[in-house]
Amino acid sequence: MRIGFVGTGVITKAIVVGLVRSNLRFEHIALSPRNAAIAAELAALDARVKVCTSNQEVLDTSNVICIAVIPQIVEDVLRELRFNAEHHVITFVPGTSIDKLHRIVFPAARVARAIPLPAVADRRGSTAIYPPDDIARSIFSALGEAVEVTSEYQFDALHAVTATMATFYAVLESQAAWLTKQGLSYDAARAFLSEYCVGLAHETTRTSQSFTEMINGLMTPGGLNEQLHAELSSARAYDHYGNALDRIFARVQGST
Ligand SMILES: NC(=O)c1ccc[n+]([C@@H]2O[C@H](COP(=O)([O-])OP(=O)(O)OC[C@H]3O[C@@H](n4cnc5c(N)ncnc54)[C@H](OP(=O)(O)O)[C@@H]3O)[C@@H](O)[C@H]2O)c1
Repeated sequence: MRIGFVGTGVITKAIVVGLVRSNLRFEHIALSPRNAAIAAELAALDARVKVCTSNQEVLDTSNVICIAVIPQIVEDVLRELRFNAEHHVITFVPGTSIDKLHRIVFPAARVARAIPLPAVADRRGSTAIYPPDDIARSIFSALGEAVEVTSEYQFDALHAVTATMATFYAVLESQAAWLTKQGLSYDAARAFLSEYCVGLAHETTRTSQSFTEMINGLMTPGGLNEQLHAELSSARAYDHYGNALDRIFARVQGST
């Protein structure tokens, strides 16, 4: 596999760092020259990572082409390039449907969308993929969990759920703020909550139980977890998530 990246920014950096640390076998990683500083940093990591002189050179030397530029310029960037029928294109750019992408990268026959997240650098990310795609699956299963879906509607739903990252930290911040009110230093609160979350998240990967089963497993009748969960449930705190995600989903779908 010869993997090329058009756009060498935050997400390309995370993927390349993850790939050079992974067991995935690849011949080379070819990077487009922008951003020059990130490209040079990545090339210094591994002899298989090369910086090309142009986006076209990335295509001419690679068979798997990852598109990682911002949505505002993606069409202009791709329309300047000559794809061939052997190219396998994987785009991370939101807002361009598979149908539209097929037209832009013709005659490349194989096209997929993916949503990698920065934790792929540590091979801990979950990456949504549409349509099911053996090459995208082999890359992203080497970097964590690769979740393939069979419709663009489902892909958009997974995209919508990635809007929960900031609120995840906001929940932690509210717990840290509460701890500091009880006299703990912010550093102690943060240190405790960080590893506490890692432990809880790790548990989800060690079992195939549903989240409801995990909740029930933690709730001793009359215990502290049961009390807090019951109080937040009766205040309908969790219902806000579904309602807000409906609005995020509508926005995601409106952009394709
Ligand atoms: N970051 C994430 O967690 C994430 C997750 C999933 C999907 N995505 C999507 O992935 C895409 C890239 O995101 P990002 O966060 O990596 O953005 P980014 O850090 O802004 O990277 C984009 C890169 O594209 C380069 N670029 C600009 N014009 C170019 C051109 N004509 N040809 C080639 N490269 C060019 C930029 O170089 P300069 O710095 O020199 O301008 C920049 O380094 C976006 O569409 C984003 O929505 C991002």
